[in-house]
Amino acid sequence: MNNFEFQAPTKIIFGRDTIKQVANEIPKNKKILMTYGGGSIRKNGVYKKVMEALSEHTVMEFGGIEPNPKFETLMQAVEIVKNENIDFLLSVGGGSTLDGTKFIAAAAKFEGDPWTILSEGAEIKDAIPLADIITLPATGSEMNNGAVISRLSTNEKLAFHSNFVYPKFSIIDPETTYSLPEKQTVNGIIDTFVHTMEQYATYEVNTPLQDQWMLGLIKTLMEESKKVLQNPTNYDARANVFWCATCGLNYWMSLGCIQDWSTHMIGHELTAFYGLDHGESLAIVLPRVWKNRKNDKMQKLAKMAVEVFGANEFLPKNILADITIDKTKKFFKSLGRRIKLSDYGIDKAEAAKKISERFKERKAVLGEKCNITPDEVYDILMHC
Ligand code: NZQ
Ligand code: ZN
Repeated sequence: MNNFEFQAPTKIIFGRDTIKQVANEIPKNKKILMTYGGGSIRKNGVYKKVMEALSEHTVMEFGGIEPNPKFETLMQAVEIVKNENIDFLLSVGGGSTLDGTKFIAAAAKFEGDPWTILSEGAEIKDAIPLADIITLPATGSEMNNGAVISRLSTNEKLAFHSNFVYPKFSIIDPETTYSLPEKQTVNGIIDTFVHTMEQYATYEVNTPLQDQWMLGLIKTLMEESKKVLQNPTNYDARANVFWCATCGLNYWMSLGCIQDWSTHMIGHELTAFYGLDHGESLAIVLPRVWKNRKNDKMQKLAKMAVEVFGANEFLPKNILADITIDKTKKFFKSLGRRIKLSDYGIDKAEAAKKISERFKERKAVLGEKCNITPDEVYDILMHC
């Protein structure tokens, strides 16, 4: 096991009817900017609940944060934060609203061009305190210090991490997810699956406990997501899927393990160039990354075939790894997800060229062994 340090400062408030607790968590002397997306919170009643709970607080609003939140939009909020002396940000909505809010929090305190936080990894030295009421189980953003931001003018989608943007608290009421369109529910299930796998499916460094946590999450996710799709108002199934999503990317499960993230890196480019949803892009890329890198990931993929898919442990590892790849594709398809670029009208040769050239420009190599070169990204996408 590798050395690690861990501190997760976010307070989690989980369960039915918990939104009203927001009032106790934010001091009354704070001037709050409540951020949200395109209006789902107005339709499903979450907006009303939050506003009622905060009736004795000072609250301004900033709506319209898009899925794959845009730098251009977020900079408008930064102006408001500065002009109105906002000293607390409350994100109400999905991972995009929360990621956008993390960026607003950091950019409002940043000296210089805030885009460099993303383009150059410029150091964040401070941020406005933030918290969230998260309504979509997917990103784990509610318990991590990361955010992914897109820039319209350059078709870029880049991530940043900073301990200054950990949410102070996150309220997770699974009932808020009853209103999710099935497509977004599926996106979240796939995102959670792939987060867990990018932390699990690498090479062995003797982490049996972490492996069992991650495989346990996958088994739970597969069972509970079936129930959610059959009955979207099954509270327990919604709660279990949400907790899978939060734990899927709070980095607790993979402490001391080796991580990959190449599927996410390639997926982000598919979103940046072609506007695919995050969850759509991942389902296309993951199986092929595994196929290409089967030898590097053999032990873990084989273990998963036995532990999750019930395969015979005495089969050759090579065969077991193929079983995991095949069963994973079947799982994505069982969710009604299309998993080929052509299913979305994307020309794979064009995508392979554009994206591999971009990685070449950035001198980026991907994968847990840093051996996925831009040329291999080209090959991966030509098979997607
Ligand atoms: O914008 P509104 O109207 O709120 O509608 C949203 C949006 O259209 C809707 N929605 C959210 N909650 C709902 C709801 N509709 C009905 N009922 C609800 N309860 O769903 C749509 C998608 O929302 P979005 O926030 O974009 O989805 P998600 O939470 O999947 O976030 C995706 C973004 O997170 C990034 C992705 O790249 C993408 O930009 N990620 C963030 C990570 C992180 N911070 O650690 C890691 C991830 O790997 C990921 O990259
Ligand atoms: Zn993701």
